[in-house]
This record gives sequence, C-alpha cells and structure tokens, in this order.
Amino acid sequence: MRRLEGISKLSGRERYVDDLPCDGALWGMTVRSPSPRGRIRSIEFGPGVEWSQFVVVDHRDIPGPNEVFLIERDQPVLASDYVRHMHEPILLIAHEDRAMCRAAVKQIRIIIDEQPAALDYRVLPASDQVQRGQDNVLKTLKIEKGDVEHALAEAAHVVEGVYETGAQEHIYIENQGMLAWVEQGVVVTQGSMQCPYYVVNALKHALARDESQVRVIQAPTGGGFGGKEDYPSHLALHAALLALKANRPVKMIYDRSEDMAATTKRHPAQVRHRTGFDASGKLVAQAIDVVMDGGAYVTLSPVVLSRGIIHAAGPYACDNVRIAGRAMLTNAVPFGAFRGFGAPQTLFALERHMDVCAETLGIDPIDLRRMNLIRDGQETATGQVINDGADRERVLDLATKHIELPERREQHATFNITHPFLRRGIGLAMFFHGAGFTGSGEVALQSRVRVAGLKDGRIEVLASSTEMGQGTLTVFTKIAAERLGIDPSQVLIATPDTARVPNSGPTVASRTSMVVGRLVERACDALLEQAGLSRDARGERVQQAIRAWHVAHPNAQLSSEATYERPPGVQWDDNTYRGDAYGTYAWAAYAAEVEVDLRTFTARVIDFVAVQDVGKVLHETLARGQIQGGVVQAIGWALLEECVWERGGMKNCQLTNYIIPTSDDVPPIRVYWMQTPYAHGAQGAKGIGELPMDGPGPAIANAIANAIGVEANVLPLTPERLMQMMDGAHV
Ligand code: MOS
Repeated sequence: MRRLEGISKLSGRERYVDDLPCDGALWGMTVRSPSPRGRIRSIEFGPGVEWSQFVVVDHRDIPGPNEVFLIERDQPVLASDYVRHMHEPILLIAHEDRAMCRAAVKQIRIIIDEQPAALDYRVLPASDQVQRGQDNVLKTLKIEKGDVEHALAEAAHVVEGVYETGAQEHIYIENQGMLAWVEQGVVVTQGSMQCPYYVVNALKHALARDESQVRVIQAPTGGGFGGKEDYPSHLALHAALLALKANRPVKMIYDRSEDMAATTKRHPAQVRHRTGFDASGKLVAQAIDVVMDGGAYVTLSPVVLSRGIIHAAGPYACDNVRIAGRAMLTNAVPFGAFRGFGAPQTLFALERHMDVCAETLGIDPIDLRRMNLIRDGQETATGQVINDGADRERVLDLATKHIELPERREQHATFNITHPFLRRGIGLAMFFHGAGFTGSGEVALQSRVRVAGLKDGRIEVLASSTEMGQGTLTVFTKIAAERLGIDPSQVLIATPDTARVPNSGPTVASRTSMVVGRLVERACDALLEQAGLSRDARGERVQQAIRAWHVAHPNAQLSSEATYERPPGVQWDDNTYRGDAYGTYAWAAYAAEVEVDLRTFTARVIDFVAVQDVGKVLHETLARGQIQGGVVQAIGWALLEECVWERGGMKNCQLTNYIIPTSDDVPPIRVYWMQTPYAHGAQGAKGIGELPMDGPGPAIANAIANAIGVEANVLPLTPERLMQMMDGAHV
C-alpha cells in the first residue's frame, strides 16, 4: 500500500499552513527578549514606523491567566515585567505587509535591567543566580532497587565514567506556523502541530474560554520530532491574541532562523556511572546520576527526565540499581521534547560505558552485553518483570552477524597499520525503548477513537493523532481496512479538527500505531456490532450492512467509539517509581562501522546495521523509513550537530552553520526485523518512532573509540572535538 499523501508531497501539491489561503489576514510577528535574565525597564517604539497601522499585543491583552497550560504553569504567554531567557516573547505585532512587519520588529527596543544568569546546568548556581528553590532544581526523580553501595563495596571491579551529550535542533522541514481567526465567537487556530488537544487546553486556559469556544485544526505538517509537541500551543496563543485584538485573521510563520533561536531543542545531559561487576563480568551494581538542562521554564522536562532515568540502566539484569535524576533550571531557551525524549541521552552514556567497562575488565564488549542481557523472567531497574518472549540474545547476535564483526575487526587491524591517514573501527549498542506514555500515563489520557460507517458504505476514522511525515494516515487506513476486510480505498481518515474528532491523545511517545491503532481496531469491532453484524464479519458484507443501516435510519449517524483500557496486569507506582514503566519495550542492537580521517579529524559512518524487535511490522516501507530516518537524525546528533551557545541562546541559527547530515553523510542503513507480537498493540505492533534515535550515538562513539583509541565520551564528536581528544592520544 502506497503512502496516502505521498504523491501530493512529492509533487508539491500538499498545502502546508503557509500555503493556505487566508483572506484579509495580517502577518503576525514576535518581539523577543535580547537578554537571558532581568527586569523589563522600558519598551521603546522607534521612529520611522507608522505604529498606528500596527496591531500591538502585550500581556495586558490576555483575557485569562498569563500562563501556557502544561505540567506547571510557570511559563507566561508573553513576558510582563521579567524575562528568564533570550528570545522570550514580550510583544506581538501584526500588519498587512509581511516585510513592513519584519522591519518594524527591529525598531522596537526592549531595555532590560540585567540580573546574573545561570548558564551551566552542570554546576550549582551562585546565590545571585538562584531563581527556583534553593538550587534551581526543577525536578528530581529516583529509581532504587537492592543495596547499591553494599554491592559496589563487594564488587570485584568498579568502573566509573562521565558522559555528556549536547542539545539538538529538530530541523523539521517545515518551520512552525499558525493561522488564527474568530468565527461566530469561536477562536479557531490552524497550523503545523503534533497535539491538537494540547493546543485546545492552552487556548481554553489563557483565553478563559470553554471547549465550545475554541477549535484547533491540524494543517499538513512537515515533520515534528517532538518540536511540535508543546511549542504550537505558544504560537496558537500568539496568533489568537493578535486575531482577537485585530478582529481579523492572523498568520504567523517563523523563518528558519527564528525557529532555531526561539523554539525548543533536545535537553543537554550529563550522566555519571559507577558500575560494579563480579569476577566473571556479571553486573552487580549500577549507580547512575543523570543531570539535564531544563532551560528557563519547566515545560516537559519532568517527563523527559522520567523517560531518561527509566531507560538509564538499559536492557540488562542487575539486582542493585540506583538512578538519580535531576533537571536544572537555567536561563537558556527551554529545552523540550525531541524524538527519544531523554532516552537517547541516558542510553548513550550507558552503552558507551559498557564498552569502557569491557575494556577495563578485559572482556569482549559483545560478550559483556550478552552475559548481562535481561532474560525472560528477569526484571528491569523499576522491577518490571520481562516476559514478552522476545529473543534479545538473537537481536544482539544478528547485529554482530550482519556487520560481520570478527571479519571486519581483522580487516581493520591490517587497514589501520597500512593506511597513511584513515583509521577504521566498529562499535555496537544494545538498547530498548518503552512505547506509549509512562506508567499510568495512558490510563490518565483516556484516549478515544471513533469509527463511522458512512451512507455509501465507506468507513471514516476520527482521531486527533496527526500525520507529520511518519505515516499515521497510511497506517490507520491499513489497520481499519484489514480489520474490516475492505479495500483501503474505502477508508477515510478525518482531518484532526477538534470540532469533529475525539481526543485520541497527543501524537508522541511512539504511541500512535501501537496504542491508538489498537483503538482503531476496537472501534471497528464496535462498529460491526452497531451495524448488527458479528465481530468477525468482513468485506463486502460489512459495507452492505452499513448501507442498509442508513436506509433503515435516515438522517442518523452510524458510529462507534473505543476508549483506552489498561492491559491486564500492568502495575505502576508513581511515588516509588516501581512497577511496569511501559506496557512493552522494543529491543534493538545497532552496529556502526566508521572511518576517521587523521588529516581533517572527520569521522564518517561507512556501514550501519539496525536489528530490532518492534513487534509486528505494520507497513515495511514506512517502518524501514522510521528506522533509517532515526539513524540519520542520530548520526547528526553524534557527529555534526552542535548548538553553539551565547548567553543562553543559540548562536548558530542557520543551516549554514548548524550542520545536519546530507545524503553524502549517510551510509547504507541495513534494517532487520524480528517480530514478536505484542498482544495489546494494533495487529501486534510495538512503538517504533523513537527507538532508532537511541542506538546510533553510542554505536558510533564506540566505533570511533575502537578506530583511534580516544575516550569518545562526549557528543557531538565534531572534527574540532575529535582533534582535541586526539591531542595526547596515540594513534
Ligand atoms: Mo515526542 S519526543 O514527540 O514523544
């Protein structure tokens, strides 16, 4: 089955928010803080601009609380008298002419009485940098099992290490953009987004409206990767405030530079490991400290930290584990959701550390992993007993087989002593990723999907889950068509428009195919019963029955809903962080072969193998695309993408100086599946979207360490950083 919107995207016919007609719309733009922290002393509107032609909005125009509705309500929609980070929105202006609006933004001067900014999340703040509690800590979380200190004291070997990863910009192809207008008293926003109902909640709260007075429509979305998880709520509020004040439609489209400067990025993180082994190399203790830079507001940091620490001990069995996580407030632009959601950071540390441990212990890194892998019946760090029948050892073996580990190691040994300036190496990472919301999160969401039987016998699936390039439209169509035994052409997917679709939850956390897809199946089953059929009815019979139902019930609607139900036996305690953190996990082993150029200090990935058990693969082409795309994004994070900071703002906000991988930087990415079905996912699927972001970082760093003998413990391994690391290393 072809990707449904594939041709319209390929041919350029797809209409993104910036392409949508919007008669009489004004352009809206944002005036931002020039400073990381301080009190706003004055705002000066410069000469040479006809300000009476502009609509200007500030915090006093917000009808409800000046708060962006999320986990905590510490973040204002528009700063009133105080700023906490560079580029923080202060004023909004709108004008018919886009160029005039852009020029006018530059004529507004914001004068700030600056205060000392906290800019390094790794060190405790000085007293005049403290802005939250005693120490700027946004959130702490802890996982504990067994007696770690005792086990470390008794261990035959203890290995320590410190690992760091940098921020990462999403670089979705389409920048953030939003339209807003008022229609019969209803505030409508339409734009690029992952989570229409998050936007609804934000509009309701700050505009002091009830749900019937706001409406959110997703426009075709050119990539999200987490960057359109919470930020569209801000942009929708901004556009709506301007539209309300102007009494005209307003269009806000960020250019690339504003998008890179002002929107969220992946949390930088520092992870410390202290690991105990017995004499044979079995893990006996893992003490792990995770610190993340949260930036200036809480946003999603507590949940990113949560997913980070839950994955920090990896897919290994160990009786004594202590993981302490801390997210720090700094005066940086707030960090947010990014594919993997904390797990890539902690899994980089863990899987790089496993190679360091193997070297210290004198054990082959593959053997060390195999020896410690979780077996069915053993438990994770949170005490979740794994009993899913997945063959994790085989996942590992397949990766070593397909990358031809022993043969290539031998070839590299010869190559590296004969080649004048190239060095090759090979590295591997073993990892897992829990799909869906953590713990009781899915229960709290209470996601709903509706399936309607139309007069002509076709089926319509109604959900708020969005297509953003990852394949929701195609996968939902396929799931519904196969459940009912009808042709995919007989299935329609409703546009996520909150005036029409129920809340199937946010399009995040690798949950759409697995969790929401399962709801599509259950809603299809319910529709069959509603139409007077048995649950196993399939094909033309189904469509006939739907048409007959409409004849018998003129002017009525035939539709059924399914609501999320917790799979039996899943237990989680939010207070102790014990129990089943996720309904299920995908398991993977990735192997990278790299080549380092000793003249230029560049590292290239020359071969890549990705082996994973993601349950049933629903659509092989799309699934392979998810894996390959994630690997490419992680190659960028590992080798190229460096956010350069200046006063808590990103300095290199251009694609000329923030370098992402091109096709020239990407090796063949060889994808292999194992398919152990998950009983509670659609057709047996587990989540897939985030998994491939977790493994390449450590696999590549391990390969570089293998090639040139440096401690590749910090990402990104840019040529500059490799040059520093090689200073003093013997190559
Ligand atoms: Mo996300 S990083 O969109 O769960």
